[in-house]
Amino acid sequence: MELSDKRILLIISGGIAAYKSLDLIRRLRARGASVRPVMTAASQEFVTPLAVGALSASHVYTELFSREDEQDVGHIRLARECDLVLVAPASADLLAKMAYGLANDLASTILLASDRPVLVAPAMNPKMWSAAATARNVATLRADGVHFIGPMRGEMAESGEAGLGRMAEPLEIADAVGRLLGSAKGPLSGRTAIVTSGPTHEPIDPVRYIANRSSGRQGHAIAAALARLGADVTLVSGPVSIADPPGVHTIHVERAEEMLRAVEARLPADIAVMVAAVADWRVAGAADQKIKKRQGEGPPALELAENPDILRTVGHHRQRPKLVVGFAAETQDLEENAVQKLRRKGADVIVANDVSPETAIMGGSRNRVNIVSAAGIQDWPDMSKDEVAERLATLISELLPDA
Ligand code: C5P
Repeated sequence: MELSDKRILLIISGGIAAYKSLDLIRRLRARGASVRPVMTAASQEFVTPLAVGALSASHVYTELFSREDEQDVGHIRLARECDLVLVAPASADLLAKMAYGLANDLASTILLASDRPVLVAPAMNPKMWSAAATARNVATLRADGVHFIGPMRGEMAESGEAGLGRMAEPLEIADAVGRLLGSAKGPLSGRTAIVTSGPTHEPIDPVRYIANRSSGRQGHAIAAALARLGADVTLVSGPVSIADPPGVHTIHVERAEEMLRAVEARLPADIAVMVAAVADWRVAGAADQKIKKRQGEGPPALELAENPDILRTVGHHRQRPKLVVGFAAETQDLEENAVQKLRRKGADVIVANDVSPETAIMGGSRNRVNIVSAAGIQDWPDMSKDEVAERLATLISELLPDA
């Protein structure tokens, strides 16, 4: 089993998402891991030590100053006798304690004393997640080498508010544990992939830019799906409002030229999936200062210059990946254009989607695609962008030539 003999110290902190930790314990144990739970005082308001103990088949540690527990294992041994410390859910409060090195209860003391890798799955109200203080603490923790999974976008259990803050699903967390412990084996294990996603912003002057409606949802989902199959994935993302996908190395860029540079810097790679809606043109000689509106002068004329075609560059590169996948967002003559694009761009597969306004695909959460390759055209039914990503990742693992 994937996590056989792995020892996970699971710290459960306060928050409604603590109920999902029960399922998480089951998932980790089903993969062969042993789980030793530590609960903060606040978490016990949401789930009981009895339930956590029963599901983990372990003693549940709750007190820093417990004579029995200290004699039994002690907090230092708890901190070290594991392969990974997993904090799920991680509350804003616990993240703050971790960032500052506070140690005033069992959970925070273990985190300070541990020399093991730490993975946290934050869960909190979106306003708390986006608060400046939390952002500072998260940046500190990342710089300290703490690994993060989520939070995800979605509706909050208690308030019904939507936004970033929902804890990642137990399955996603268990996958991230597998990746961190290097035991995830998938059909793409040992393979590297580069994915581009989102729009690009092409500056007109320091405050204005040319952009498009791409949300990054499809590209981000593909990056996450490839990682789930075991690939080592780099995502080069234009400006988007969605979170970095779990288990993926994400590089943020703004302009097409930056995107190309970031992609070329990651070559050689086995797989390239170019999903970004790269602006075809940039403004030639973008102004250094904000362009002023002057009375009687009329609007400025913008001269455009052609942007580099990233897919085409990669498709004809001397370090061309073994499998190159492009997208074709068309509003007419979908298949014919896709077949031509395959040849022109040097791609092995073109995923063609109809982005005419009535399909609501661009920026939406569903997609309907045709898969065009030398083998012909497959017409996939309407499905969510996550399902398209899942199926495409599987197709990529089947088409990829052996190393
Ligand atoms: O030529 P067209 O923009 O229709 O091609 C779409 C495909 O090419 C997508 O895969 C997109 O990511 C990629 N592309 C690119 N760089 C560009 C334009 C498109 O990588 N400058």
